[in-house]
This record gives sequence, structure tokens and C-alpha cells, in this order.
Amino acid sequence: MNIGVIGGAGYVGLVTGLGFAELGHHVTSVDVNEERIKRLQSGQTPIHEEGLLPVLERNLGDGNIEFSTSFPDAVEGQDVVFIAVGTPAQDDGQADLSQVIEVAERLVDLMESYTVVVIKSTVPVGTVELVQSILNREKAEGMDFDIVSNPEFLREGKGMIDFFYPDRIVVGTRSERAREAMHELYRPLIAGNIAETTGRAPLPADIAPEERPVPLVETDLASAQMIKYASNAFLATRISFINEIARLCEEVDANINEVARGMGYDPRIGSSYLDAGLGFGGPCLEKDLKALIKIAEANDYEPRLLREVLGRNDQQVREVIGKVKELTGYLLYKKIVAVWGLAFKSGTNDVRNSLAFRVVEALEREGAEVQAHDPMALDEARALHPNIHYFDDPYEAAANADAVVLATDWPQYAELDFDEVKRRMARPAIVDGRNLLDRDMLMTEGFRYLSMGRA
Ligand code: UGA
Repeated sequence: MNIGVIGGAGYVGLVTGLGFAELGHHVTSVDVNEERIKRLQSGQTPIHEEGLLPVLERNLGDGNIEFSTSFPDAVEGQDVVFIAVGTPAQDDGQADLSQVIEVAERLVDLMESYTVVVIKSTVPVGTVELVQSILNREKAEGMDFDIVSNPEFLREGKGMIDFFYPDRIVVGTRSERAREAMHELYRPLIAGNIAETTGRAPLPADIAPEERPVPLVETDLASAQMIKYASNAFLATRISFINEIARLCEEVDANINEVARGMGYDPRIGSSYLDAGLGFGGPCLEKDLKALIKIAEANDYEPRLLREVLGRNDQQVREVIGKVKELTGYLLYKKIVAVWGLAFKSGTNDVRNSLAFRVVEALEREGAEVQAHDPMALDEARALHPNIHYFDDPYEAAANADAVVLATDWPQYAELDFDEVKRRMARPAIVDGRNLLDRDMLMTEGFRYLSMGRA
């Protein structure tokens, strides 16, 4: 099939376009970001994703994917057009739909024959209907289209793996014709036989899970959109829940790692998303949770539980700052605090909405001097927050510090030479905001050490 992707250099759009190209479709990915499109045309990736680069190189070489900044290229002559533009949160938490609306308005004049318009962007319930009404209002005589909501569940850093080996595919539409087109598009994924269909494994064996059939959830438009919001809100709820239990563990001298381990064996609970720590950051969970709260408000419903999930998350930064004060003697004025880890989670260079920066800002508000390090996200961090002292080396970041705060769970921090860290610091004190480090070893080394829910 011929596929156009609008927002094709963004995170979701790029992974989606490359995924379909690898499945043998012809993909045209369009984006307004000229610099990113130029890089992609020359075979460079603007984002860090496991397994992405070989898929990009292969499909550029085969001519299965083209990148362009010209909007009509994504629509003219395409069977399916994916809308994967951003829906950033506005100040009040509501999703900003201006890019989606603009795309819908421009799409309409460019469709040449029957087109399936697929909304990939995470949009509040009702937006798909809004896009449909824009298209209906503007469409030329005889032009035919259908709308589909096909939410994504990609985790950053693992996006290619999640594309090829999803846990489920959700397709919401009223149209039988569009349903069939989507089934056709995703056929090898649904059947779990990508290698058999395309003649090659899309990802190297060391990162690819075993192929297996994938459930296809065919449903109505509103339910498809709610599945996405409810899934992210549920993950956020698990994290806030375990953080609440972690706080209680501190009161009763229990260890949250042990508690989560013991809970996780129950198949009704499961062990994922039970890592206590600084909380959930990044571009998705908080944004979608806030948007869901707005959806509830717009429907005159008071979403008390969702608000508490958000509130608990905001509390985590304060907990960490409290621990820094506990170790440094409460007055942070003129104290030097090193922050290790700026990406919103390990394995990515994405610093958008990273809680590490809320820690940095809170420390600075109290008059502390911050020295920050990240193994992968320093350029991105500098671009977003130019006024922090950045270091390429975690030991240098810790030099003369009164405390270190570990804010991102990069495994390499656990491998550092803590003798050396101790030598460099003014006073050996660590707040482990991700429960990553070896507490017993650090205490034996003479560090004052606090973590999250590990009494
Ligand atoms: C999340 C979802 O996991 C994806 O399924 C979804 O597609 C994506 O949002 C999206 O809507 O686009 P992502 O934002 O990449 O993916 O991040 P996660 O891996 O879910 O982590 C989010 C945050 O929660 C990170 O700050 C992480 O450190 C934190 N976290 C995660 C915890 O504090 N504890 C845990 O147990 C797990």
C-alpha cells in the first residue's frame, strides 16, 4: 500500500513510517522540521532508538521510504494517511489540537481518491469526530474517505521493538472498508509472521522478542481513544501507588524492593511498573493523565483518583529534596549538589518533562549550586536549560559536592568507582532517587545514603 505519514520526523511518526516501510509498504514521511528531514534523507537519525538505524538505512536504500518537507507528498496518491503530529499539553493540561486541526484542513483538498485517514496522535475523545467534520465540511464532490483511530503504545527507546512486536493493535472505526485496510496494513504483525512475509527479521536477534500472533482490538472510535488514555493513566497509577507504599515502607522500616518483589509474583498484579523512585516523567504519562482529567472535567465528572495519582507524583520531587536536606543539614544555600541523570528515563536522550529538571529547579530555588551530568542527553539538556553547569564526566560533576542526587536510572551509575566519587566530593552523601545503587556497599564505603522506600 502507499502510505503517507504527517509528522513523519517526530518520534511516533518516524517509528511508524519506518515500521510500515520494513513491512514492504511504500511510505512517504513528511515533516515541517527541515533539519530533521535532511538528516533522515542522508540516513542519520535524530532520535536514539534501539534497532532504528539499520531499518532506516535498509529502507532508504530499497526506496521503501522517502522523506519530504512538502505536505502534499504525504497525501496525494496515498491509500492511507497517518496523522502523527504533536498534541502538547497547554498550561491548563488540555491537549493542544491546533496541529491536528491544521492538518485536517490542509488534507482535504489534496486527497485524490478513497483515503483512509488514521489518527495516530493521542487526542481527546471527540477529536476524531472533529477531524471527520472538518473533512466532511471541506471535501470536494465525490471524494471519499474514512477515519480510523489507531493509538500507539510505543515506549521511548524501545519504539521499534514495540512497533514490530506489540502487545495489541487497536483500531477504532465505523467503516468496514477502513477496517479491512488496517487489517491488510498490519497483517504480518497480527499473524506474527513478519520474517516469513518480508523474508527478513526486522530487528537483530539480540533485541527482537519471539514472533507471536498479536491481538487486534477492533472497536468504536471513542473506545479506541479511551484505551490509550486509560492505559497510560493506569501505568501512572501503578507508579504513584508504589511510591505511596514506598513512603509507608520508610515509616515502618520495610524495604520497597522486597515488597514489590513479593507483590509481583501474583499474576493478577505482575511485576512491571512497580519501581519506586522520583516518579513518572517524560512527554507522555503526565501529559495524558492531565488530558484525561480535563476530559473528565469537560464531562462534568470529578476524577478524584486521577488527581491523586498526579498529586502523588508531584510529591516525589519534594521527597527527594527533603532527603537532600536531611543529608546536608537543611540549609541548601551555597551548597553544591551534583545531579546524575537528566534524561526522563535511561536509554533515551529525551529530556522533555524530565523530573530531573524539577529537582534541579527546586535545588536552585533554595540557593544550591547544581552540577549536572548525563551519559547521553547533555546536548538536549543544554538546549532546553542553558543555565546549568554541565559536566561530561560523573566524577567531575560530583567534585566538591555536598550531595549527589541520582535522578535517572542509567545502569552505568551503579558501575562507578565510589572510592573515587568519595574522594572528589566535599562530603560523601547520596540521595538515590531511583533505588539503583548498592546501599550496603555505599554505607560500608562511608557514604551517607538515602533512597526511596528502603529503610
Ligand atoms: C509511555 C508508555 O509506557 C507507552 O506505552 C506509551 O506508548 C508512551 O508513554 C506514549 O504515550 O507515547 P514512555 O513515555 O516512553 O512510554 O515512558 P515509560 O517507559 O512508560 O516511563 C515513564 C516514566 O515512568 C519514566 O520517567 C520512568 O522512569 C518512570 N517509571 C516507570 C517509574 O518511575 N517506575 C516504573 O516502575 C516505571
